[in-house]
Amino acid sequence: MMKLSELIAAARRARLKARAMHSGFKVGAALQTRGGRVFGGCNVENSTYGLTVCAERVAVWKALSEGEGAFRRIAIVADSEVLTPPCGACRQILWEYCGDIEIVLANLSGRTAKYRLSKLLPLPFDNRFLDVERPGSKKQITKAPRH
Ligand code: THU
Repeated sequence: MMKLSELIAAARRARLKARAMHSGFKVGAALQTRGGRVFGGCNVENSTYGLTVCAERVAVWKALSEGEGAFRRIAIVADSEVLTPPCGACRQILWEYCGDIEIVLANLSGRTAKYRLSKLLPLPFDNRFLDVERPGSKKQITKAPRH
């Protein structure tokens, strides 16, 4: 089984590939599947700024596009004294595609912290709401989203 330190090392390696020429803020992510595969991701910026994609979403897109759908945890690494948490958009995507996974934050000095995603996104909107089509529907909001 992969050690947490190895997953963080994979996120650090991914960070070195960041295309952060506008912000100068490089982020790396490493998403681990339940089967033990690891998908790295880095932030990719562009000249319009708004089309930037965060490291976390790049890792998710890579894994999904390779057919993966069951995830265990994600490590996120940035060079910040206070550990960098995933942005709101990434929390949403992680919730919908990875479920209540473990979020491991780390910086380059070796500081780490762990959170459950549900702690970072306590009242999520997801497909459970779309399933409840109208008032009086028999469909119920269940605990976790469908993947
Ligand atoms: N960024 C990430 O890649 N992940 C995060 O968790 C926070 C922010 C990127 C987006 C942008 O390229 C740069 O960091 C500054 O916001």
